[in-house]
Parts: sequence; structure tokens; C-alpha cells
Amino acid sequence: MGLLQIIYTSHATVRLDGDELKQMVAAASRRNHAGDVTGMLYAAEDAYLQVLEGSDKNVLVIYADILRDNRHDDIHTVVIRPIEQRDFPNWSMALLDNCEEPIDLAHVLNRRDDRAGIWNDASWPSILNTFRAELATTEP
Ligand SMILES: Cc1cc2nc3c(=O)[nH]c(=O)nc-3n(C[C@H](O)[C@H](O)[C@H](O)COP(=O)(O)O)c2cc1C
Repeated sequence: MGLLQIIYTSHATVRLDGDELKQMVAAASRRNHAGDVTGMLYAAEDAYLQVLEGSDKNVLVIYADILRDNRHDDIHTVVIRPIEQRDFPNWSMALLDNCEEPIDLAHVLNRRDDRAGIWNDASWPSILNTFRAELATTEP
């Protein structure tokens, strides 16, 4: 069965405090774990960027629920691609909410008027590497 990776950005409609965010991610991680879905959630001030990866079916089922979630809106699928290997194999859903915002990411999150151009943005590998490096210092 093929592996699929989806990356989206969204705008937070509700400002979740640290504990609320951790609770939401804990629930999401349990569900992801059950479906062997991995990834990470980057929570900025009022924006999210999430990476989901796993079997096509399981990723799409979870993404369908995420798209309906009214805790965020302005959801833009910026990457959807088949992958050979996961970028976050050890994380049911890693939470990054206090890392130094990579410059490329600020660029992506701010390009609200031109999301289509992000699809082919050559900076994705470097953005993902920044997150992976950040997570390398944290316990899964
Ligand atoms: C920014 C954001 C990221 C989320 N990530 C996940 C996730 O990775 N996995 C997951 O199962 N639910 C995630 N959720 C929660 C889902 O949207 C949904 O609430 C959850 O799957 C429970 O669905 P249900 O209320 O229909 O049972 C996320 C929600 C938000 C707002």
C-alpha cells in the first residue's frame, strides 16, 4: 500500500493555550497511532502547519476530519505527494510550538494570497529538515 504525505497550513480560529494544545495533540496522536499515521504539527501565533503521513486511506480519512474542524479555517493543502519514506517515522504527532520560526516557513505562512505557488516551492526539503533537526533533540 502506498504512503502519502499531506502538508497543509491553516489559520487558528480559537487561540488554544499550551495545555489545550497539548491535549488536542495527545488525542490526535492516539488516533494517528491507531492508524499508523505519523507527522508533526507546528503551531505559530495564529497559524498551523501540519505534516501527515501514512497509508493513503488512513491519511485521507484523518485529513477529512481535520478539514471539518472549526478550530481552524483558511486551510490550504500545500503538499500532497506519494512518498517512499516518512519524514517523521517516530512521531504519531510531534508538537512544535516554541521553536525558532524558520525563515522559509514565515514566508510560506504569509503567502496567503498566493498559495498555489507553494506547491512547487523548492524550500520544502529545507523546511522539513529544520523541523526534523528541532525534533531530534526531543523525546518522541
Ligand atoms: C490543527 C489541528 C490538527 C489536528 N490534527 C489531528 C491529527 O493529526 N489526527 C487526528 O486524529 N485529529 C487531529 N485533529 C482533530 C480532528 O480535527 C478531529 O477533531 C478529531 O479527529 C476527532 O474527530 P471527531 O471529533 O469527529 O471524533 C486536529 C485538529 C486541529 C485543529
